Amino acid sequence: MTDNLETLYFFLFFLVNKVEYDYFQYHPMEEISSWMSQMAKQYPDVVAIVDYGKSYENRTISLMRIGLKSDTKKKAIWMDCGIHAREWIAPAFCQYFVRQILQTYKTDAKMEAMMTNMDFYITPVLNVDGYMFSWKNSSTRLWRKNRSPGPSGDCYGTDLNRNFDANWGTIGVSSDCNSDIYPGRGPISEPEAQAVTYFVGSRKEDFLCFLTIHSYGQLLLIPYGHPDFTASNYNELMKVGEEAAEAILKVHGKKYRVGTSPAVLYPNSGSSRDWARMQDIPLTFTFELRDNGTYGFELPQEEIQPTCEEAYSGALHIITYAHDKTFNGAAATAAALWTTLLALGVHLM
Ligand SMILES: *[C@@H]1O[C@H](CO)[C@@H](O)[C@H](O)[C@H]1NC(C)=O
Ligand SMILES: *[C@@H]1O[C@H](CO)[C@@H](O)[C@H](O)[C@H]1NC(C)=O
Ligand SMILES: [Zn+2]
Repeated sequence: MTDNLETLYFFLFFLVNKVEYDYFQYHPMEEISSWMSQMAKQYPDVVAIVDYGKSYENRTISLMRIGLKSDTKKKAIWMDCGIHAREWIAPAFCQYFVRQILQTYKTDAKMEAMMTNMDFYITPVLNVDGYMFSWKNSSTRLWRKNRSPGPSGDCYGTDLNRNFDANWGTIGVSSDCNSDIYPGRGPISEPEAQAVTYFVGSRKEDFLCFLTIHSYGQLLLIPYGHPDFTASNYNELMKVGEEAAEAILKVHGKKYRVGTSPAVLYPNSGSSRDWARMQDIPLTFTFELRDNGTYGFELPQEEIQPTCEEAYSGALHIITYAHDKTFNGAAATAAALWTTLLALGVHLM
């Protein structure tokens, strides 16, 4: 009896300690950070944490580099979440995305090929200070910007998605530092925008795809935010975006609209998406996740799962397109088949 109780006790202890991370609730920064380290421990050959900047308040900005070892030079996919503090569904999506690709590659030859040919660079929370501020209390819940003081010192925050060096300060901004769309003192004046600019800029020829995740509105936005400029591959971006929206619709029936910011939302300048496209990264998109205005930034936790499932499908479409365009689809399939045959051969012998 005592033995049985002891066994039961240890079993329960094991259960409590092994309890799976809940991807379908919102997590404060500390929990996201420890989840990141946990994933790196659990997948040491596949996941690496890279610190690539400091926030205004001196917190570390980190990304997860995810990929399989390869002897040849790899291409790369960028994804950042949480550049706007209050858009809590975005960090939740980055975490879900990481979980999905890590669960998929072992059984899915296509994902295995993509993770061999490309590294995923995923930042779960880019605006760390702002995200923590939005968790502080109900009066700061809807904070959007970072936490650097303005020129006069009596107002706070720069809109990081107006701070990039892409037609900076020309449209869709306000010079009032109290405004939610204050673009900062100059292009990349903010350490968080500098971190992305220097990291991506130093290897921009590697990146096939740049996805930046926001909410809300159910939109897939393509460059450019300034109505006077058109991306040289506008037609390709629209086509891939429409296909991604189609993939999203199939999952839970949610409609996402596709277009440039001025066409479907409002004109803007200084966005990271536009900056990335100006660096010649071909496939750059802003995702505006659920909802369409009922709850806005305060999306109920029950909607995390369906939102992540549909957005995963859309993101995967874009990433697969980027991959197949660079790595001949037939060759990748042949390689996967060869791996399977080799594995079979070893097994039969
Ligand atoms: C950040 O660290 C630097 C260098 O240690 C220091 O000068 C600065 O005051 C710190 N900033 C904040 C907001 O704590
Ligand atoms: C927003 O989405 C809900 C649920 O899908 C739908 O009932 C409603 O009509 C939508 N509203 C707008 C303005 O699109
Ligand atoms: Zn946003």
